[in-house]
Amino acid sequence: MSQRTLVLLKPDAVRRGLTGEIISRIERKAGWQITALELRTLDHDTLEQHYGEHKGKPFYEPLVEFMSSGPVVAMIVEGERVIEGLRALAGPTDPIAAAPGSIRGDYGVIVRENLIHASDSEESAEREVKIFFPGRA
Ligand code: PPS
Repeated sequence: MSQRTLVLLKPDAVRRGLTGEIISRIERKAGWQITALELRTLDHDTLEQHYGEHKGKPFYEPLVEFMSSGPVVAMIVEGERVIEGLRALAGPTDPIAAAPGSIRGDYGVIVRENLIHASDSEESAEREVKIFFPGRA
């Protein structure tokens, strides 16, 4: 089933020069295509829209500070089972629990600096695409 998902390469991935490596892993997946890509620094309003459901949780403020600390690469990726597939490629939230071979498992240690966001469902993907690429809604 062809789907689309919203991916953010987080400020740690940009600062550490890992965006090329991560994009290349996504591009090599058969049948997936990057259909929008932009480097941009996120303001707190955008992040509140994106992470609003987590407002009030202990990690919310540090997450917003971190996500606005430098540019991110925002992308739309389209293709077969891409929502589930990108979550698997990213690995679980805590990089220490992520298997080697996944992006977080290979490059991450700290939970906050976990390199990549990928939408967790079709509903989230549509909501998040609207926030980051309103012209593509
Ligand atoms: S929850 O409560 O289970 O829905 O949370 P979870 O899906 O694990 O995480 C939601 C997003 O918050 C990020 N996160 C954190 N950021 C900073 N510090 C800590 N401790 C932390 N814990 C979770 C997590 O990476 C999720 O963001 P995205 O962008 O989806 O990765």
